Amino acid sequence: MKIVHSAAALEGLLRQYREEGKSVGFVPTMGALHEGHAALVRRCAAENGVCAASIFVNPAQFDNPEDLRLYPRTPEGDCVLLEEVGADIVFVPSEEEVYPVPDNRVFDFGLSGRVMEGACRPGHFDGVARVVSRLFDLVKPHRAYFGEKDFQQLVLVRRLVEMLQLPVEIVAVATVREPDGLAMSSRNRRLTAEQRVCAAEIFHILRESLLQAEKLSPDGVIRFVTGAVNNVPELRVEYFNIVDGLTLQPVTSWRGPGNIVGAIAVYCGEVRLIDNIRYR
Ligand code: PAJ
Repeated sequence: MKIVHSAAALEGLLRQYREEGKSVGFVPTMGALHEGHAALVRRCAAENGVCAASIFVNPAQFDNPEDLRLYPRTPEGDCVLLEEVGADIVFVPSEEEVYPVPDNRVFDFGLSGRVMEGACRPGHFDGVARVVSRLFDLVKPHRAYFGEKDFQQLVLVRRLVEMLQLPVEIVAVATVREPDGLAMSSRNRRLTAEQRVCAAEIFHILRESLLQAEKLSPDGVIRFVTGAVNNVPELRVEYFNIVDGLTLQPVTSWRGPGNIVGAIAVYCGEVRLIDNIRYR
């Protein structure tokens, strides 16, 4: 596995693989890697001639400076994990390398960019779109892998690829969970032992809501989930929406086209966690 820090070195390495006719798979990350990231990289390595991953904590997507400051950084351990799970190239750029000139692009994702994370974290998806489009420019992947855990991000990255007409296939990977159901997240390591126990209730309640959905309307399920989560010590719901999985707009009935997803953001103490579940 090769670790590169500059765009020039990355392009040089990738050129060799391309000349050998190998397809390029790409997994962008912000590091502090766990089994969720590992699942993306394993899949990427299995499906492509070369698997490149990036580690870059992207300041542009943090609306909260404290969250950026406290974001865990574990570069050595990350590289050990990436090598174990089959990455061939790791790109670890500086901020200057990613943004050689200031990138102030604003992206209009329509209504789907203005709900949930888009509503609670102003500018967040502009930051994600800037870095993803920039990384795609540098890596020029045939396929790129994103986790369903960040459901809205996955939907908007697909939209970004359409808007910019990029020749990249976006592959979705199912959420990897701890044995007690908590969605794996780099932020989990900021939880105290007590909070960690409470955090597992988020997915227990989401799973229970699948049964509730057989007898309640979407609004009823929203009330059930919000009430149950807020009843757990340490947990405070920021939003829980039940949405059309393509448009991310709230649904009022279980009938209708497409898939339906419940997406939640919860503060556990000071740590903000997100998760989602598919109803149909
Ligand atoms: P990060 O939070 O490091 O996540 C990198 C990728 O791993 C994302 O596609 C995310 O959805 C996926 N992922 C995280 N936890 C997961 C889990 N438990 N199961 C499955 N996949 C999981 O998301 C970002 O970084 C950034 O926004 C990024 C796309 C890199 C742009 O900066």
